[in-house]
Amino acid sequence: MRILAIETSCDETGVAVVDDGRRIVSNIVASQLAHVDTGGIVPEVAAREHLRALDGITVQALSEAGVELRAVDAVAATVGPALVGCLLVGANYGRGLALAAGLPFIGVNHLEGHVYANWLYEGDTPTPEPEIPAVVLIVSGAHSDLVLMEGHRRFRPLGRTIDDAAGEAFDKVARLLGLGFPGGPAVERVARDGDPTAFPLPRAALAGYDFSFSGLKTAALRLVRALEAKGDVPVADVAASFQKAITEVLAEKTARAAAEHAVETVLLGGGVAANLALRAEIQKRIGHPLRVPPPRLCTDNGAMIGAAAFFVLRDRGTEVPITVRSDMKLA
Ligand code: KG4
Ligand code: ZN
Repeated sequence: MRILAIETSCDETGVAVVDDGRRIVSNIVASQLAHVDTGGIVPEVAAREHLRALDGITVQALSEAGVELRAVDAVAATVGPALVGCLLVGANYGRGLALAAGLPFIGVNHLEGHVYANWLYEGDTPTPEPEIPAVVLIVSGAHSDLVLMEGHRRFRPLGRTIDDAAGEAFDKVARLLGLGFPGGPAVERVARDGDPTAFPLPRAALAGYDFSFSGLKTAALRLVRALEAKGDVPVADVAASFQKAITEVLAEKTARAAAEHAVETVLLGGGVAANLALRAEIQKRIGHPLRVPPPRLCTDNGAMIGAAAFFVLRDRGTEVPITVRSDMKLA
């Protein structure tokens, strides 16, 4: 089963060819540069950039895979949750391709994509499939969800952020420190040279598995303003202290969920899962090797949509409705 998959939910335009939900045949991702100047994503600009980029990237993904559109078995695209304008571009483009080529179209939940990124491999040797049940932490620019994956496409929500997403907090602190956009990778980079114990920052102690990061964000803002007033902001120390605070909270709840549900598999997904400090904090707390996609498969890409689409098709066996939804939940 060979799927051509399209991802346009945020600011990366991604198109990939994926075999049997696992093998990456090609995976082209173009990050929009238009948002660097505004320091954040302007939805209309993002949608327009997707429209401009999609054709070229699709041609490139097919040619790198060495296949023609006629030779794929289905076309998939993200249909939620995300910015509706962006979703409409990718979903309508995919739907158009599918109609023209007489192929089934599969609408994919972006969050399922982040989960199924854990199933992907490159090259000819398959990696072992992750074992289910699993605890999955999805941490991106828009989401921080802790879920129990009980079976394929069967997810039980355990906790979620009650305010900001983890990636959003990284982006805001990066902006505060003048590190640019997207902020996560920049914070991680400068934090390597910083002292994570330099500044005490709050860890919100919510009951259960919910997260809250707005208090941490405000504390970081106050700290930076106070340091600015003194005339010296040790950027690396602030970044390291912030990263320590946020990754400890995410890791602690993830590990606790795995222990409580007696689950041996812990999976990560979403842009923030690319963060090596987060991986280390979680690994420290669990007794089993942590499964994490390589960083470029943690951030948005078409291959993860191709992986999830395979399991949708296997599950439902038919075409899936195309309605895009900004507030789509994990099944
Ligand atoms: O999954 P993703 O590519 O897009 C969404 O679905 O939102 O995640 C993007 C988010 C951004 O907030 C970005 O700053 C963050 O993931 N991110 C990171 C890292 N790489 C990307 N956060 C922390 N450390 C990283 N290395
Ligand atoms: Zn994402």
